[in-house]
Amino acid sequence: MGIQKYCIMVLCAVSFSVVQISSKFDFTNIKCNSFDKEFSDFEHCYIKPINRSYKYVAVKVKLFKTPITKVNIGIFKRFNGYNGYRPFMYNITVDACRFLNDTKRNPTASYLYSFMKPFSNMNHSCPFDHDLIVDKLPIQFVNDQVTKVLPVPEGDYVYETNWFAYGIKRAAVKVYGTIS
Ligand SMILES: *[C@@H]1O[C@H](CO)[C@@H](O)[C@H](O)[C@H]1NC(C)=O
Ligand SMILES: *[C@@H]1O[C@H](CO)[C@@H](O)[C@H](O)[C@H]1NC(C)=O
Ligand SMILES: *[C@@H]1O[C@H](CO)[C@@H](O)[C@H](O)[C@H]1NC(C)=O
Ligand SMILES: *[C@@H]1O[C@H](CO)[C@@H](O)[C@H](O)[C@H]1NC(C)=O
Repeated sequence: MGIQKYCIMVLCAVSFSVVQISSKFDFTNIKCNSFDKEFSDFEHCYIKPINRSYKYVAVKVKLFKTPITKVNIGIFKRFNGYNGYRPFMYNITVDACRFLNDTKRNPTASYLYSFMKPFSNMNHSCPFDHDLIVDKLPIQFVNDQVTKVLPVPEGDYVYETNWFAYGIKRAAVKVYGTIS
């Protein structure tokens, strides 16, 4: 390899690591599942890259029968030598109405909820008798949550929410991300 070519590669590596530092978190995948289409369905569910520094998640679920009563939230991490993800932080279930009425009572759920709160229309008391939206949740926000608010080690993660009504799981949203 010629010295010039080598230098160009080093330059690339340097600028790449600069980008990495300014944004350590990235969304890698999103999966939305409705288990009962008569109950709820997703109008949209996607990750949208706008440019190198701006990429966001948008989810809209239409509820045909209300209300949603329980929500299970957890963050799972992929571990080497283990086929799949294992609970990393929390795998908790909250009564949506009681929790949103006073989020301070449950700090764990509050932390998990904080990932979507500013971008969702769930910030009100019950009932949830309308479509639920998480709109334009950007990587930069998640990055601040996992590097400044509560530092999280590098790795592959999935943020999973399961939505229950009348004791039955109706829908699930999984957002995959990586911290490097
Ligand atoms: C990326 O897109 C956002 C939204 O359109 C814009 O505000 C920002 O300046 C863009 N950043 C770059 C580096 O182009
Ligand atoms: C998380 O908790 C729910 C409810 O307790 C349980 O059904 C589910 O299997 C758990 N998920 C994992 C991956 O442990
Ligand atoms: C909501 O919070 C208020 C004040 O803390 C309390 O009086 C009320 O009973 C709560 N309602 C529910 C449904 O938990
Ligand atoms: C909604 O969010 C705002 C700002 O975060 C907060 O002041 C308000 O109390 C919240 N409303 C409810 C019903 O939780």
